[in-house]
Amino acid sequence: MITMLFQKDYFMASLTVRQLDERLKKLLRLRAARNGRSVEDEVRTILRQAADEAGHDELEAFTPPAQQARASRGEPARPQAKRVLLIIGGGIAAYKSLDLIRRLKERGLAVRCILTKAAEQFVTPLAAGAIVGERVFADLFDPAHEFDVGHIRLAREADLIVVAPATADLMAKIAAGLASDLATAVLLAASSKVLLAPAMNPLMWANKATQRNVAQLAADGFAFVGPNEGEMAEAGERGLGRMAEPLEIAGQVSKLLTQAGAPLQGKRVLVTSGPTHEPIDPVRYIANRSSGKQGHAIAAAAAQAGADVTLISGPVDVPDPPGVRTVHVETAREMLQAVERALPADVAIFAAAVADWRVANAGAQKIKKAAGQATPALSLVENPDILSTIAHRASERPQLVIGFAAETENVAANAKAKLAAKGCDWILANDVSPQTGIMGGDRNTIELVTATGVEPWPPQSKEDVAHMLIARLADALKENP
Ligand code: C5P
Repeated sequence: MITMLFQKDYFMASLTVRQLDERLKKLLRLRAARNGRSVEDEVRTILRQAADEAGHDELEAFTPPAQQARASRGEPARPQAKRVLLIIGGGIAAYKSLDLIRRLKERGLAVRCILTKAAEQFVTPLAAGAIVGERVFADLFDPAHEFDVGHIRLAREADLIVVAPATADLMAKIAAGLASDLATAVLLAASSKVLLAPAMNPLMWANKATQRNVAQLAADGFAFVGPNEGEMAEAGERGLGRMAEPLEIAGQVSKLLTQAGAPLQGKRVLVTSGPTHEPIDPVRYIANRSSGKQGHAIAAAAAQAGADVTLISGPVDVPDPPGVRTVHVETAREMLQAVERALPADVAIFAAAVADWRVANAGAQKIKKAAGQATPALSLVENPDILSTIAHRASERPQLVIGFAAETENVAANAKAKLAAKGCDWILANDVSPQTGIMGGDRNTIELVTATGVEPWPPQSKEDVAHMLIARLADALKENP
C-alpha cells in the first residue's frame, strides 16, 4: 500500500482512513491501540517511516545546483555544502531575512526556510520560496510536508539553524520547550547549533521576562547575534532591539559553521611547500620552478577545516595563508630542521619541491669571473630526504605521512615505487612535463597512490585538489582516530 502511495502522489493528498478496506482498517486500529496512538497518527507514523526509507525528490532539491551539475558530469562530489535552516519569525524585521537568504546562498550554503504563522503577516511563502529556490515549510500538521520531509528530518538535516527575526514570543516558547508549531517543534528536536537574531521593541527586549528567557537560552547553548542599537520601525522609536544586519548574521553563520563542521578540529597538520634554494655562493643559488601554490592551498584548506597548521615554506611569491603558522626557510637542511622542530603532528604533507642536491663547496664569498680563469666546478652532494626521514622516524612519526611525486613519465608506477622507498602512507602523483603546465600553474591532475591502489582524480584547480585531499584525510583520521 505504501509503495503505491508513493508512486501516486495525487492519491496521498486525498487519503483518509475511511477510504481503506475493512481488513486494513482493523489492522490499523489494532496497531494504533498497541502503540497508544490515534489511527491517523498511526498512518502518519507509517508513512513517515516509509518516506525516511524511500527518500524523496525533495531531498535532491536541497542538493545545491553546482553539486548536481558535478554529479551529472560524473565528477566526484566536493565536500557537501553546509545546510542552514532559516526560521523566520513574525516581526517587521522579517523583510531583512529575505536578504539574509541571499547572503547565505552567496556563501555556497544550502538554505531551507520555515515561516512561522506570524511571519506570514510580513513575508509571503511565495517570496521566501522564490529566493530559497524551493518551497518553504510552514505547517506542523501539513500532511504533504510531514509525509516527505517532516519536522524531525528538518531538524536533523541542518548543520546550523538560524532564527531571524527571533521575536520575544518565539524566544519565550523556545526557552519553555514548547513545540506548538513547526518552528518550535523543529527547534525542540534539533541537535545542531542554533543562532538567534533577536528583533523587538526596546521595551520588550529590556523586559525582565525576555531577559530571563535570553539568559536561559544562552545557558542552554543557543548563540546570539544582536540585537543592535538604532532606529525602530515604529516612528520616533530607537534603542536596543534592531535585528542584526543580514551581513552580520551571515558572518556569524560562517563562523559557527567553521567551528561546528571543522573535520580537522584538534588535529595538528604540518605542510612543506615551495622550492628550496641551495647556495652556490652568497648571491647565486640552485632552484626549481615550484611556485608553492599547491602546498600553500593545502595549508589554507587544512586551516579552514579547523586544523592547527604549520607551513614550512621555501622562497615563494605567494602570500602566507591566513590562519596558518608559516616558517620561512631557504635550504633543504633548514627545511628539515624546521619540520623536526614542528613535530609532533598528526599529519605531515610534503608538497615542497626540495632540491635533491646542494653545492658541496659553496663559496663564502661571491665567486669572481676572471679573464683566462677556468669556469668553477660545482661539486654536488645529496640533500637530506625530508619526507623519508620523517616517515622512518621511530618516535613522533605523524599518523599520516603524505608525499608528492612530481614525475615526467610513468607517473603512477614511479609513485608506487616511491611510496615503498620513502615509507610514506600516500603519494599524490602528478605529471610535471612542461606541456601539462602544472609546475607553476593553477591547475593540477593528481593520481592518489596508497597501499591499496591508484585513484585518478579529475583535472581541477590546486584549491580543489587541496580540499579533496583534506576531505580524504579527515575521513581517514575518522576511521583510525
Ligand atoms: O624523490 P622525489 O623528489 O621525487 O620525492 C618527492 C617527495 O619527496 C615530495 O613529497 C617532496 O616534498 C619530498 N622530498 C623531500 N625531501 C627531499 C626530496 C623530496 O621531502 N630531499
